[in-house]
Amino acid sequence: MKKVRLSIVGFGVVGQGLAELLHKKRELLQRDYDLDVSLVSVANSRHGFIYREAGLDIPTLLELAAQRQPLTQHPGVDHWTSVVEGLQATQADVLAEATWTNLQDAEPGLSHIRTALKKGMHVTIANKGPAALAAGELLALAQQQGVQLRMEATVMAGTPVLSTVSEGMAGVSVQAVRGILNGTTNYILSAMAEGRDYAEVLAEAQAQGYAEADPTADVEGYDVVAKTVILAALVFGQFIKPEQVQRQGITGVTLEQIQQAARAGKRIKLIASISRAADDPQAPLLARVEPVALPLDDALAHVNGAMNAITFHGDSLSAVTISGPGAGRLQTGQGLLADLIAIAKTL
Ligand code: HSE
Repeated sequence: MKKVRLSIVGFGVVGQGLAELLHKKRELLQRDYDLDVSLVSVANSRHGFIYREAGLDIPTLLELAAQRQPLTQHPGVDHWTSVVEGLQATQADVLAEATWTNLQDAEPGLSHIRTALKKGMHVTIANKGPAALAAGELLALAQQQGVQLRMEATVMAGTPVLSTVSEGMAGVSVQAVRGILNGTTNYILSAMAEGRDYAEVLAEAQAQGYAEADPTADVEGYDVVAKTVILAALVFGQFIKPEQVQRQGITGVTLEQIQQAARAGKRIKLIASISRAADDPQAPLLARVEPVALPLDDALAHVNGAMNAITFHGDSLSAVTISGPGAGRLQTGQGLLADLIAIAKTL
């Protein structure tokens, strides 16, 4: 049995989702993947970094988190207030980084990831800040260190988008991408199409764990911009800046506009699109995020609630559409779990 020591940094909705999956799927991982994952360290911003060489008890951690009790109450742990110092002082094979997405400077996640990679740890990221703002630097660092850096959970949660492109669609030259990439705004727009009130459904999306810590990132389109930048890097190999993506969120979309679109046989969706400016792999990308009234014969018009979908237009496969959950506790934890299994296969 292969033993992998895991550190989860960021123990909010997503970090707890991964821990819950590891606990529930312990036997499946052992039976189907010959894999024994030992959670050796966990950190959150309120209580710092805890470590137990023999492994932490996941139900105890989840109970402490649910009660908003310090994680240090877990028996037998060493404790650091600084995550970076904790990572440097302890031993783990893989870091799962799930701290809050900061699209200004990507901290504190960026420092956590750099520390882990420099230490020779493999890394899986759910945090979109470092993936969007520093993918080039981090992928180069991982390559230099001979370790893996994966980020499936950053785009459409655990729905396999990035691995499908890099593995399943290997050899396809993708020319354009179009998708619904934010669960919160799709949930809101879908509910508004049924006549419901914006503020009420935003509160519901927050309660379901779909929204960012600051939902402005969702409703103003910054979260989709980050995902668009990540797709530009991983699908097109171009490291663009968030400012290069034209952005318009959904705060200006009124109930009246939605009803008017419905009368015209259309549905308003927040659409991210990337295309090459010319038929040349080096040509600059055109990237935008904006509400679009889609006709009902567009597959994306039928993607509702917190579901997301993306269509890749490529040479040898014409169009490939993937749809699935785009946000949520276990749904995003699943993206980290899939990366962890992929990493473990190579160890
Ligand atoms: N807030 C994000 C969303 C979470 O609603 O899609 C998943 O990235």
